[in-house]
Amino acid sequence: MQSEAEAKACCADLYQSDMAKLIMGDTLHPGGLGLTNKLGRLMGLRSGDVVADLASARGESAQALGRVFRCSVLGVEFGADAVRHAHDAAPESGRAHFVRGDAECLPLRTGAFDAVVCECSMSLFINKSQAVAETARLLKHGGRFGLSDVTIEPGSLPAELEGDLGQVLCMTSALTADGYAGLLEEGGFEVTDRLDASSEIIKILDEVEGKLAAFLAFQRMSGAAPGESQLERSPELVAKVRDMVTAGELGYWLFVGEKRGEKRG
Ligand SMILES: C[S@@+](CC[C@H](N)C(=O)[O-])C[C@H]1O[C@@H](n2cnc3c(N)ncnc32)[C@H](O)[C@@H]1O
Repeated sequence: MQSEAEAKACCADLYQSDMAKLIMGDTLHPGGLGLTNKLGRLMGLRSGDVVADLASARGESAQALGRVFRCSVLGVEFGADAVRHAHDAAPESGRAHFVRGDAECLPLRTGAFDAVVCECSMSLFINKSQAVAETARLLKHGGRFGLSDVTIEPGSLPAELEGDLGQVLCMTSALTADGYAGLLEEGGFEVTDRLDASSEIIKILDEVEGKLAAFLAFQRMSGAAPGESQLERSPELVAKVRDMVTAGELGYWLFVGEKRGEKRG
């Protein structure tokens, strides 16, 4: 049985791998930077805001938020290689900086942030309430929490996607849209916005399908025997995920929560 620390390290290793970058691209969530900027607009980010990006991976979103909204962004990520990559890729004069840390126990100062962003990662956190409590601790009164994540209806995960694969795809411990809203409310936030962005999953599936097909064709041309590659079943799995989205069982939602207390000036 894996310890919590081992499970987090395993998850981080997977997302900071070259394979994840190859399949998903630079941002590891549906909708890419377009959806990141949409979340920033919904949150009302503005010039000079001090923002934390929880589970910042290779730092693409943190850099984009700094550029577009002219705010200072501190990315926190469990994977040491991803933090190193983010640090090296960020221009020295830029607005984004990165530290290694656990979203469930953040190495950051209480009340020091105007806003916190967390994209496609709450679904992976082992203790979600603790991560929300940590987010509330970081924020000033009236500070905003922008969350985007995979949603899933209970009991809809097919057997093939249970276990590690479902976990990697952020599905195994994802919540319903109401589940995330309730998590925020219980953690001291008033949910001010929620937006269905599930169509972005279909777009990402189209891209992933194309890349997998090219990858499999390349493997066959290189002489791999049929059935040899674990990826051979992936078109079937992609079709299953697509069906779940179409049936409304799987989705991607954006939420904005405002920390209860005084409004910001
Ligand atoms: C699906 S990726 C999303 C990355 C990024 N937010 C994005 O949207 O491109 C999930 C990220 O969460 C990180 N992660 C998982 N558990 C974590 C934790 N407890 N603390 C910090 N990062 C964590 C993983 O290492 C991975 O980089």
